[in-house]
Order: sequence, then C-alpha cells, then structure tokens
Amino acid sequence: MSKCFPDNFLWGGAIAANQVEGAYLTDGKGLSTADLLPHGIMGERQLRTPGDSNIKDIAIDFYHRYREDIALFAEMGFTCLRISIAWTRIYPQGDEDTANEEGLAFYDRVFDELAKYNIQPVVTLSHYEMPYGLVKNYGGWGNRQTITFFERYARTVFCRYRDKVKYWLTFNEINMSLHAPFTGVGLPNTSDKSAIYQAIHHQLVASARAVKACHALISDAKIGSMLLGGILYPLTCKPDDVIETLQQNREWLFFGDVQARGAYPAYMTRVFSKHGIRLYITDQDRQDLQETVDFISFSYYMSGCVTKDQELNQQARANILNMVPNPHLPHSEWGWQIDPVGLRYLLNVLYDRYQKPLFIVENGLGAKDVLTEDGSIQDEYRIKYLNDHLYQVGEALEDGVCILGYTSWGPIDLVSASKAEMSKRYGFIYVDRDDDGNGTLVRRRKKSFYWYAEIIKSCGKTLKAPHIE
Ligand code: BG6
Repeated sequence: MSKCFPDNFLWGGAIAANQVEGAYLTDGKGLSTADLLPHGIMGERQLRTPGDSNIKDIAIDFYHRYREDIALFAEMGFTCLRISIAWTRIYPQGDEDTANEEGLAFYDRVFDELAKYNIQPVVTLSHYEMPYGLVKNYGGWGNRQTITFFERYARTVFCRYRDKVKYWLTFNEINMSLHAPFTGVGLPNTSDKSAIYQAIHHQLVASARAVKACHALISDAKIGSMLLGGILYPLTCKPDDVIETLQQNREWLFFGDVQARGAYPAYMTRVFSKHGIRLYITDQDRQDLQETVDFISFSYYMSGCVTKDQELNQQARANILNMVPNPHLPHSEWGWQIDPVGLRYLLNVLYDRYQKPLFIVENGLGAKDVLTEDGSIQDEYRIKYLNDHLYQVGEALEDGVCILGYTSWGPIDLVSASKAEMSKRYGFIYVDRDDDGNGTLVRRRKKSFYWYAEIIKSCGKTLKAPHIE
C-alpha cells in the first residue's frame, strides 16, 4: 500500500559546517574544537602545529562550492536543507564583543542561494563544535560564562537571518556529551560525571535562553531540540533487563525531557545521588529552563539492546554508544545495526512522551561506494536502506504521529564525524576525495540521486513496502 505524506512535509538532507565547509581559517574564522580532532569526535584533542593538516581543513570545500551543491539539491527537489553555522565564523574566539562580518556574509550568501530554489534552511546553532578560544580561556561549557557567549552568538544570528531562516535547532545531539565530552561540552574526555553533567546543565540553560531569544526575535520561527535517537530494546524479557533498558533510555531522553518539558525530571534525582553528583543550579536557571522547544528533532541510525548479563555486556560492542547488538538485525560495514522498524517505534515513543511535532533530521547509510568504469555509482544498498526507513516514517504518520519532515544525513558525501573518513559515504552525490585528501572534489550523481528525486516528487508514494524475510 502506498504511503501518504502530507503535502507540506519537508524533504531534504542534512550537513554540518565542520564536515563540509573546509576553509577552516578563511575570512576571519577562528579555530573550533572540531579543527583539533583529526581522527574524529571521540578522539583526543591535538594541538595544531604549522604545516599539519586535517581532512576537514578542506572537507568537500562547500565554502566555495555551495552554489553547485545547492543546485544539485534543488535538482532532487529538496524543500529544505539542514545546515549548521560555524560559531567560529561569527565569533572566532567566542568572547568578542562584535561579530565577524565576513562570516555572517557567507551564510547570507548560502541562505540567498537556497531561497532562489525555495529551499527552507533548517539551521543548527552548534553542530559538534565550539570556539576553541572558549575551551582554552574559559574551560568550555564547564564555565557558566559560556552561556552568555552562546546567547550573544544566538541573538546575533537570529537578528541577522530573521527573514531568511524559520527553522532552528540549538545543539546537535546534545546527549552525545556523555560519550564525547570534548566535542560536546569542551571538557577533557577524562572528566568525571559531575563535571560533565554540570557542563551539560550550562548547555541546557543556554539552549533554553536561545529558545527564548528566538521566540522574542522571530515571531514566526520554530526552534527545536536535537537528540541522538539511540533507542534501546531489552535483550530479553527478563524484568531486570526491562528495568535496565528503561534506565538507559532515560539517560538520553533526559535531555529531551528538560528541553521539551522545562524542568529536570524526577528520575534524575536518583541518578545524580547514585553517582554522587551535586549540580549547582540557580533559581534563574530553573526559570530559564521553563522556555521549551517547539518541536523535537533527532537523528536515527540504529537501535541497540540492553542486558544486565555482565558477560554479554563485555562482548562485541558494536558502535560508538556501546550498545549490545540485536541478534535479529543486520549491520552496516561500520557495525551500525540496521533497524527501519525501530524508527517507527522511536517516532511513536517520542510523540507519546512529548506531544510535540517531530523532525527526523538525520538518517542514512554510511557505505563504501564503488565508482564504476563508466563513472556511475550503483548504490542499491543505500536506496534499500532509505526506502525501508522512509516507509516506516509513513507507518508512523498513519499511527498519528505529527512529523514535520525528513532530512537524510549527508545528501552529498562528507567527512564522517566518528572517524573523520571520506570513505564512509552517505551521499546521493559522490565527491571525488579519499581518506588521505586526494581527489578532484568533482561531484557525481549516484543512482540514489534519481531515486530520491522520485520519492520527493511523488511525496513518498513511490516508496516500496519492505520485503519481509
Ligand atoms: C551524527 C552526527 O551522529 O551522525 C553527524 O550528528 C554524523 O555529524 C552522523 O556525521 C554520522 O556519523 P558518522 O560518524 O558516520 O559520520
């Protein structure tokens, strides 16, 4: 049965500044935390020395090629594009009094280009990067002052782009800070839980203040949270596994609970006391947190399992979140388990919990593509992955879930976040660049390019019911 997506459903793709732009010190841009992680977001910070290079320094050179790339997105029929603003293009060190005009002008050009094709920008304020100046001089999000610097940055871009951008997100995968503290909150990866949760608290307050500023400055804008939707199933129906799963899901849902409900959920009191964590929270913070998001956005790549069984817990840990693998699911070349039905499940869980519109702002398959002799890329596996996930989005719509849109991750090949590789490709558009930085950067349409264009044109009606084994 064909799927029925609303006419105003937003269709597009998602990219992030530090994974596409390159030009890492151009036009006044400052060093960001992402510029110091040549091996990906989970790695240790490495100070830059003259002459060293990082694949992200050029990335796919979106900074200079955005016109060509946006034209290709338009050719696929995108009605939205999720991008992020590099905070360091606007405030290079993070604590300046005035914004960097050249950085602001760059995003003006990008938004104007999108407007030419009626593509709505969906803009993340901070996607896995912050000014390194704030880390070095203030201790990152560990310092309450960073809230003020972030709010200044947010207000600057809201004022500047108020007529051009109507969808905003605050922090990308805000729950990832627990797993990658340097990337998430600018703290050393060895930091203890107390320090990390205090930094997270500051970030949650900053997020709420940005939401408030957005509501005040752009009355017709919508601003959302962005969670890594790492949904977990109990490995067995043993009650202990089920309770453990509830608790582990709360570790990430906690962020959504604060952002969507405006206060710390009661269950965190027990979590904090178990770990001896005592947060410093002011009355003003509690008041600020009451400003809640308009919608919940999230990324979804995989599901995982939870067990209390210590031995199983020690065994093969499949991915960056240390989830126990599900014996019923296949996995990608990078060990990420493929679970389209999990997306329908997650959409229902989030909608039941928050009763706010949802936006799937990342989903996709990282794979090693082969460029054939005739210059084509036959990425059937990507088409299958996306078809099966989008089909489940259609199911969730029928379940009554309110969904604003879908942006597949990496509509054009880009540098991967976890390992800083080019060979983990997500795109409908192939980019000629390898892991060592060799290549012409020429763009090519893959088979999936034409497929996605059809899906958008038919508003999902050409999605195929997945083959049941
Ligand atoms: C999400 C991030 O976690 O996953 C993206 O928001 C990232 O930045 C994406 O690129 C896919 O992960 P990876 O490691 O395959 O690039």
